Amino acid sequence: MKLLITGGAGFIGSNFVHLLRRERPDWDLTILDKLTYAGNPANLDTVKDEITFIKGDVAEPADVRPAMQGCDVVVNFAAETHVDRSIVDADDFIRTDVFGAYVLLEAAKELGVERFVQISTDEIYGEVLEGFSKETDPLMPRNPYSASKAAADRLAYSYWATHGVPVVISRSSNNYGPRQYPEKLVPLFITNALEGKPCPVYGTGEAVRDWIHVRDHCRAILLLIEKGENGEAYNVGGGNLLNTLEMGGAILDAVGADKKLLEHVPDRPGHDYRYALDSDKLAALGWWPEHDFAEGLRETVEWYRANEGWWKKIKSGEFKRWWKRYYQDEGRA
Ligand SMILES: NC(=O)c1ccc[n+]([C@@H]2O[C@H](COP(=O)([O-])OP(=O)(O)OC[C@H]3O[C@@H](n4cnc5c(N)ncnc54)[C@H](O)[C@@H]3O)[C@@H](O)[C@H]2O)c1
Repeated sequence: MKLLITGGAGFIGSNFVHLLRRERPDWDLTILDKLTYAGNPANLDTVKDEITFIKGDVAEPADVRPAMQGCDVVVNFAAETHVDRSIVDADDFIRTDVFGAYVLLEAAKELGVERFVQISTDEIYGEVLEGFSKETDPLMPRNPYSASKAAADRLAYSYWATHGVPVVISRSSNNYGPRQYPEKLVPLFITNALEGKPCPVYGTGEAVRDWIHVRDHCRAILLLIEKGENGEAYNVGGGNLLNTLEMGGAILDAVGADKKLLEHVPDRPGHDYRYALDSDKLAALGWWPEHDFAEGLRETVEWYRANEGWWKKIKSGEFKRWWKRYYQDEGRA
C-alpha cells in the first residue's frame, strides 16, 4: 500500500505518520509538504529514514502529479489552519485549502487513486448553540478558515458524486497533543504557563469546544482509509465539551500554574460560541475515543515540558512576529 500524505510535517499529519509507522509498518509513505511557518521537519525526525519527504505545494499541479504517481491512497491534511490569520488575510486559505484540494482531486481522478481522505473539520457546521451536529446538518461556516474548509469538503464530495473519485471525509473536533504549533490554544497556554506568561482568553471565555486527543483522530483516519464508505463524511468528536475558561483552568492545573495567568482579551470577530459533534456514524464502524481527557492532557503537558527546544525555537521565530502584530500592535493584549 502506497500513501501520499499532504501536510505531513504539521501537527495532525505528523502524528498520523507516526501512528502508521507503528500500526502499518509495511505501508510506503510519501509526504508532500510546503513547509510553511506551521510545517516543521523536526516533527518527522525520528522516522525520516523510513519515509519519502517531498517539499512541495498542493496548489501546484507540477508538485502534486509526480508525488501522487503510483499511490493507492491520498490523505489531505495540507491547509492553512489558524483562524485568526484567516481573519487578517484569507488569500493563502483560499489558495491552499480550496484550490489545493482541487489540484489534488484532479490528480486523484486522473491517476485513479483507490481512496482519497479529505481532512475536514467540525467548524464547517458553524456555531451549534444546542445539541450535536450530525453529518447531514447544513454547513454554516462563519469565518474565512471554516468557509475554505467547507468548500474543500463539498468539492471533495463532488469528485465522488460526479467523477467517482473514492472520497471519504473526516470532520474532527479540536485536537490536542504533542507537536502542535503553539498558536493554538492548548500548546499556547501550556508553553505560556511554563514561562509564567499570561494566557489570552477571548471575550468572556465561554466559547465551547469539543476536545479530542490527536491520536484518537489519527486512529479514526486509519479506520476511514480501510472501512469508510465512498462519498460519506464522518464526525470525529472527543466527547469532551469545555469552554475556554474550563479548558484553560484544566491546562493550568496540569502544568501546576496559577489560574491568575488566564487573561481576558477582546473577543475574536465572528467567534463561534459552540461546536459539538454526534459521532455515532463513526462509532458504527467500530471507533470510539480511547484517551481519557485528564490523562491525555497530563501526557500532553509532559511532552511540551520535555521538548522545550522544539517550542522555544518556534516561539522565537515567525510566531514572535505574528504575536507582536496580532496581540500587541493591534492592541489585543
Ligand atoms: N488542529 C485541529 O484541531 C484540527 C481539527 C479539525 C481539522 N483539522 C484539519 O486537519 C488538517 C491538519 O491540521 P493541523 O492542525 O495539523 O495543521 P498545521 O497547521 O499544524 O499543519 C498544516 C501543514 O500543512 C502544510 N501546508 C500548508 N500549506 C501547504 C501547501 N500549499 N502545500 C503543501 N503543504 C502545505 C504546512 O506546512 C503544515 O505542515 C487541516 O486540514 C485542518 O483543517 C485540524
